[in-house]
Amino acid sequence: MIAFVAGTRPEFIKIAPVVEALKRRGAPLSIVHTGQHYSYALDAIFFEELGLPKPSSNLEVGSGEAAHQLGTIIIRSAEALSKLRPRWVVVQGDTNSVLGGALAAYKLGVPIAHLEAGLRSDDWDMPEEANRVLAGRVAALHLCPTDLQLERLRRENIVRGVHVVGNTIVDAALMNADRARERSKVIERLGLVGKRYALVTLHRPSNVDSEERLTAVMRALGAVAKHHGLSLVFPIHPRTQATIRRMADGSRFSESPFITTEPVGYLDFLRLLADAQLTLTDSGGVQEEACTLRVPCVTLRSNTERPETVTVGANLLCDSTVPGVLEGVVETMLSRARTWANPFGDGRAGDRVADLLLDPKTRRTPSGAP
Ligand code: UD1
Ligand code: UDP
Repeated sequence: MIAFVAGTRPEFIKIAPVVEALKRRGAPLSIVHTGQHYSYALDAIFFEELGLPKPSSNLEVGSGEAAHQLGTIIIRSAEALSKLRPRWVVVQGDTNSVLGGALAAYKLGVPIAHLEAGLRSDDWDMPEEANRVLAGRVAALHLCPTDLQLERLRRENIVRGVHVVGNTIVDAALMNADRARERSKVIERLGLVGKRYALVTLHRPSNVDSEERLTAVMRALGAVAKHHGLSLVFPIHPRTQATIRRMADGSRFSESPFITTEPVGYLDFLRLLADAQLTLTDSGGVQEEACTLRVPCVTLRSNTERPETVTVGANLLCDSTVPGVLEGVVETMLSRARTWANPFGDGRAGDRVADLLLDPKTRRTPSGAP
């Protein structure tokens, strides 16, 4: 049996193609849900829309201080995994659920497959950098989206069990793009018919935890909207909402040019992204999806662990809120031809991962072990 430990929105989206591929092969599997995300809009909606099986357990760790959250994930996922006794534990990405699930599996002696392995921002102020590096150190199977991560892992002396498989976000986006066009009514619901808009997402602590920084970013976005004649469609992550609620004048962020909403489901998000002039985001997954759907992207950060998106011409970085700077970067992206090649694969990553997990020849000891 193959167990997935997952707990947040992007993990649910990105494990779905692997779960599908295992189901097609008749392989038994189980999802251990850490409960890191629990609001309907960040959790259950993705199980419904992506047809994910009901988790075998929900550890209900909830939100809280990072070390406490991580410790609880380790303890509770170890309990769940020792009952399941899986052949593999699969973790995806770089969240606290990933590191907690990986450490629990490692201590139980269960081999770990790390999906989206080898990404690096070299920014240790981001909690995700420690999570992905440390999870990678204990993994046996490293499933890299592109050659760049294979090379990066090689530089860190991780050479065994490393495979380039593509990113399962491509599978997910391509599998659901038509469904999104057919089923989602989000364009009508948000009054966007005939409107030119940019899709905005923000949730990185460095952008949203301080009122000053969030205000500066929103002001810069407002200036972009005015300069380029765009509305700004903004599904607000709860982390960002919490800061906006603390602000005395937070309600101005729901006024024009902003069109705000709760976080939306995957089909609505894909529909919004596909019809946008561009996306302005600090999300990892959105950079990849925009690249896949050929929607220009400006990443509101000073670095990215997805540099392929910049190299192919799909993305530019900008963390400046100095007046005029973001307008110029957006201008460049809006004038680019949307013809770049997708570096993240052909949409068959899920099949490749499933084949590796089910192949008895796949090495199951941590890469550092002799
Ligand atoms: C987490 C991940 C981040 C990932 C993001 C995806 C870590 C360290 N961070 O960040 O890498 O990009 O998920 O969205 O693992 N909250 C709710 N409902 C929920 C979940 C959270 O209201 O279902 C609120 C709580 O107030 C919580 C805050 O959002 O304190 C932040 O949640 P948390 O899971 O700690 O971090 P994210 O910012 O979501
Ligand atoms: N997403 C969504 N609804 C939203 C915002 C994002 O379905 O309102 C999806 C988006 O399609 C992408 C993923 O969530 O696949 C990105 O998650 P997030 O930005 O929370 O995390 P990150 O990728 O930065 O870890």
